[in-house]
Formats: sequence, structure tokens, C-alpha cells
Amino acid sequence: MSKGAKIGEKRTVPGERGKQLLKLRNDYVPRGGFHTAPIFIAKGKGAIAEDVDGNEYIDFCGGIACLNTGHCHEKVVAAVKNQIDKFMHVSFNVFMYESFVQLAKEICESTPGNFPKKAYFFNNGAEAVENAVKIARRYTGRYNILAFEHAFHGRTLLTMGLTSKVKYYKYGFGTTDIGIMRVPYAYCYRCPHKLSYPGCGMHCLNRIEDMFKTYSPADSIAAILVEPVLGEGGYVVPPKEFIKGLRDLCNKYDILFIADEIQAGMGRAGKMWSIEHFDVVPDLMTIGKSLSGGMVLTGTVGRADVMDSVETGGIGGTFSGHPPACVAALEVLKVFKEEKLVDRSAMLGKLAKDRLEEMKKKYSIIGNVNGIGSMLGLELVKDRRTKEPAAAETKEIMKNCHEHGLMIMNCGTLGNVLRFIYPLVIKEEELIKGLDILENAIKETSKAI
Ligand SMILES: Cc1ncc(COP(=O)(O)O)c(C=O)c1O
Repeated sequence: MSKGAKIGEKRTVPGERGKQLLKLRNDYVPRGGFHTAPIFIAKGKGAIAEDVDGNEYIDFCGGIACLNTGHCHEKVVAAVKNQIDKFMHVSFNVFMYESFVQLAKEICESTPGNFPKKAYFFNNGAEAVENAVKIARRYTGRYNILAFEHAFHGRTLLTMGLTSKVKYYKYGFGTTDIGIMRVPYAYCYRCPHKLSYPGCGMHCLNRIEDMFKTYSPADSIAAILVEPVLGEGGYVVPPKEFIKGLRDLCNKYDILFIADEIQAGMGRAGKMWSIEHFDVVPDLMTIGKSLSGGMVLTGTVGRADVMDSVETGGIGGTFSGHPPACVAALEVLKVFKEEKLVDRSAMLGKLAKDRLEEMKKKYSIIGNVNGIGSMLGLELVKDRRTKEPAAAETKEIMKNCHEHGLMIMNCGTLGNVLRFIYPLVIKEEELIKGLDILENAIKETSKAI
């Protein structure tokens, strides 16, 4: 039994022990790393976390989409323990090991595309994206990458350039966008062309070919890099024609299509890979986050001829495809099948979306319910007509949730989207309780209609 507040009960954030640790954090950890709330975790199981003061939380963040199989899934934990008793690190560049190659096979078989594929594993999402770009450049002999407004691909020098949010991902770090051509995403709720779908005739897509004439020729573009569903940019689902149209452009101009599935993949969007919603097959995909159930593992997977264009030694790294993470990922893939987590994502997502749409009828602060499957976002606005983002109110609602035992975070270039990334193993009653806490926070923070 925990000694602190139960889910739904008010608690002080941070608690006494939390305060002591927060002082250490502020004294010794730079402010450049952000935290959603001043809360330190002590342990987690499934969709429930307990902080160092014994307070319980329903976790709607899942380590930012890394815990689709929940905190400490017992089968994943057992696989990791078993592995670390045998060997922990050798580097795949020295001794190779079975789990790496078995996982590569599984990932190649589970990703879209009826052609030979190969996969390699890395340590974070940014590294997977960087490698996809390197491989695309090497294969095509072209340098430029077409990326999108509101995209998030990481924080390293290259991926910071590919990312499209200035404060604070790019701010003050100098020129980052060399070789990157940026075009609007089909974010219909906030259409940059002030048009409405479907009457717009997919103007955003048509603009790309114009830019091949005015900005950068198509034959300089190695790849189109796109999140099939925007992650950090606000959990935005584009029209199907948008993603299909990008694929058509790639076919027309011999450009590679890279789907960044790091956040939207692994069942989050109600399909194993979010690109499956669009009937499009990418040439390369980047994967990560929930791949290894809370261990550290990402990957780049795609057409074997493209992946093999890089000479031996051109990709990889000391820790790439760490053994405990590879065995964890193999176990995660089994758990997905055994517990039917992709179907569960669609089922839970429907439950949550219906409830969020009900809330939208009651509270004017909710401008739009974004997302698909269990990748949902609530876009909060000060005024539904002007769509002015309600960023301060979003923070206030989050704080209220944290104080009542719901760990929730925001996203969106404008900071005004509450996102739902609960573990897919969450119990229905936990999901409903979390939504109750959220609704209460919205009620206290905003006016009813
Ligand atoms: C779509 C997408 N790509 C890349 C990344 C970067 O991953 P990492 O933070 O592991 O470097 C993220 C992280 O949120 C992401 O959502």
C-alpha cells in the first residue's frame, strides 16, 4: 500500500521528498532539459506510477509513447533479466548476437512492403532519422531532404534542422536548415493557406511541385521525410490524399519516401504502423519509442537495396542494438500478438475519442479533437472562431491533473494540445478515471458552453 494520495485525491506537487530531489535537479541538471511536472517516480506497473512521496498516478504519458506495453511488463522484465545474466554489452561491431538478427528479421517482416528489407538498430530516434537521411543520400546521390512544418525529428544538429519548432528546439543554435526544404503539412484545422478540406483541392500538395521550380529542383531531393501522423506537432492526422500524394511525387521524381514512425508506430495510432492508414508503402521507416517496452532501442528499416547502398562501417555505433534492448523488443512483439494490443489501441482510442467529443460539446476551450487510434490530442483554444491557442490554460489544466493523480503532457507547435499516450495495457476503468480527472480539470479551468 502506498502512503500517499490515491488516484483522484488531491496531493501537493512536489511532495516533501520530491522537493529535495527537485533542489538537486535544479542545482546540478541544466535547465535546457525540460520536465513536464516536478514529480519524481519511485516505481511503475502497467499504467500506474507511484512517486517518491507515495502518491499514485494514472500515466497518460507512457514515457512519451515508449510504454505501449506498460511499465515493467513482466515478460519484458524477465527477458531483460535473463539477458543481463549472460552478457550485457559487447557491441554488434565486435561479437554479433542472435537477438539483433532475429529482431531485424521480425521488424522486416512486420513493416509494410512486399519486397526484401533490412533493418539496423540505434539508440534514440534522432539517430534513426539521421541514419535514414544518410542512407537516402548515399543511395540517391542527392543531398536535400523535403520536410514539413510542425515536424519533430529530434534534437541533434541534423534532426534539429528537420524539426520545425523554433522555441526551444532550434532557438539560438545557429543555422540548422542546410539542405532542408520545408513545406506546410496538411494541418487542416490550422491550414496555412486558410483553405478548407476538401474544397482546397489539396493546395498544400500542389505547392510542392511549384517549389521544385522556385526553390530546389526535384532531382536534388534525396527523400521526403514525413510523420504520417504528426507527433510533437499536435497529433494531427492529414487527409489520406496528402500522404498518397507525397508517395506519387516520390514515384514521379525518383525521391525516397521516409515514414518517421517513431511516435505514431508500434500500435499507437490503431494500426501497427500509422502509414497503414494511408495505403502507402514507404521506402524507409524510422521506428523507436515503444519498440523495446521501456528499454533504449530505435531502428531504421526499409528496402534492402537502399539499406545496402552504404559501405560497411558507414552506419552503426558502439551501443547500437544493445543486447538487453533487443531481447526486450523481441518480447514486446510477442506481447503485442498475445494481448492483441493493436486492436486494443483502436478499441481504447474509440472509447477515449467518444468521451473527448462529448467534452467538446460542453467546454468551449476545446477547439478540436485531433488524432487517430490511441494517438489522441485535445486542441485547446481561447476562442473557437479565432482559434487563438490556449497555451497558458493548457498548462493550468495539466497542473490540476497532476495534483489529482493524472500524469498528462502537452504537445503542438503552439503548446496548446493535450495528448493522450496511455499504455495500451491500461484497464478501461483506469482510462475512464483518467478522463474523469481531466474533465474536472477542464471544468475548473474553463467556462462551460
Ligand atoms: C516522430 C519522431 N521522430 C523522432 C523523434 C526523436 O526521438 P528521440 O527523442 O528518441 O531522439 C521523436 C521524439 O519524440 C519523434 O516523435
